[in-house]
Amino acid sequence: LSPPATECLTGPPLPVRPDPRLDRRLVSFQADRDRPFFSWFKYKEAFSADLVRLLLEEYGPPGGRLLDPFAGVGTTPLVASALGWDAVGIELLPVGCFVATCRRAALHIDPAEFRRCLRPLENDPWPDTIDQAAPYPHLTITQGAFPPAAEQAIASYRAYCARRVPDPGLRDLYHLAALSVLEDVSYTRKDGQYLRWDERSRRTKGRRAFRKPRVEDFRSAVLAKLRRMLDDLESTPFPENELFPQRKTSSRPGALDLIQGSCLDLLPQFPARSVGLVLTSPPYCNRYDYTRTYALELAYLGCSDTDVKQLRQAMLSCTVENRAKRDALNGFYSRLGRAADYRRALRAADAHSALRESLAFLRAEASAGRLNNPHIPRMVENYFVEITVVLMELARLLTPGGRAIMVNDNVRYAGREIAVDLILSDIASTLGFEVETISALPRGKGNSSQQMGRHGRAELRKSICIWRRP
Ligand SMILES: C[S@@+](CC[C@H](N)C(=O)[O-])C[C@H]1O[C@@H](n2cnc3c(N)ncnc32)[C@H](O)[C@@H]1O
Repeated sequence: LSPPATECLTGPPLPVRPDPRLDRRLVSFQADRDRPFFSWFKYKEAFSADLVRLLLEEYGPPGGRLLDPFAGVGTTPLVASALGWDAVGIELLPVGCFVATCRRAALHIDPAEFRRCLRPLENDPWPDTIDQAAPYPHLTITQGAFPPAAEQAIASYRAYCARRVPDPGLRDLYHLAALSVLEDVSYTRKDGQYLRWDERSRRTKGRRAFRKPRVEDFRSAVLAKLRRMLDDLESTPFPENELFPQRKTSSRPGALDLIQGSCLDLLPQFPARSVGLVLTSPPYCNRYDYTRTYALELAYLGCSDTDVKQLRQAMLSCTVENRAKRDALNGFYSRLGRAADYRRALRAADAHSALRESLAFLRAEASAGRLNNPHIPRMVENYFVEITVVLMELARLLTPGGRAIMVNDNVRYAGREIAVDLILSDIASTLGFEVETISALPRGKGNSSQQMGRHGRAELRKSICIWRRP
């Protein structure tokens, strides 16, 4: 099912090369599991600091600005800045932005002050900050997520942070500690596309009851996290020292700019030829709904139901709920006086023969009732249109000789693999990039159990595309 390594969809053969240095650990958050600072919050969609370092060392030295338009928890801009690049990260999801900002704030936190604020929380009972004024600000979809004792303890902790942790940067780190244990102390589990609910929450709709083996106590979990953070702050004064011990901050860190918003709105505002390197990983075309899996965290950060609905639609289309952004993008580019640019991008996506063929196949499968959701064809189509618009902007922003490096996964629906890496590389080349290489992980990813049952096991390629502006 996977296309052979050099299969080309429309033009000359594309260079897909297995790269023995790449493995699943490196290309995911797993390699950062025990790393000081980077392990504080588990963002399953992140890639590792080591991957960023590997790529930057290969495609450095710093020259021009580095941009990550899908920055997540800020791995790329943080590592790049530590290596001396001036780095900009754009991220839409408030969870990613908050974690990235906290990681940056950690550079300037006084461990003694951190310890001072921790002490009262180590006493039993907790300081008397409990009141009903700081209850958990639930979303409709998070009601019932915590056992009553956890709900109460979180409210108390939030009140403590608000009243007894005066420094705003330090207060953010205290909130980060809570944010990072919410899943562990709840009746939920992040399960790929959805948030899975324990039967004790009384919210389970599935036929098969699910019971989490362990629901942790909030107080113990948050204290353990705070102690771990303090330990990192005391033993590793600067994350860049930990990341690059051989350098010992000999190189001056570059500027670090984190912008919250949609890259579809923000990229057109960047001046042409203002970026030297792009290193990014967009959402994959895999139906993962970040606004649902991170619902507890979004609620904690104060997002309302309306905010979450708007976020879901503003995200790059990768769920069956996303509606097309074509009209909005058309209006937006017309107002910028760049309607022709938008039409060019649209043509590059719409005219791609392999993509068209895949979409026709998916629509036929949907009509025959063989897709488990009838909106999958719409999602795939919108995904490619929107990424194409991003690629068009990246081509405009990069200086000659600059590269865009993109980590992505191929996907499979109704037994057919969609070679996201090859299709996007093809589209990139029609938008002015040269495809330098597509580095594939030697081992791909198994398909979902549902797909496996019906279509057998065939690995999906995970790869890193390197596109260069001539
Ligand atoms: C695969 S993750 C990137 C993770 C990142 N490499 C890291 O190490 O944390 C993709 C990110 O794109 C973000 N995203 C989705 N749509 C976006 C948009 N329109 N603009 C900016 N970011 C977006 C998601 O919230 C998610 O954090």
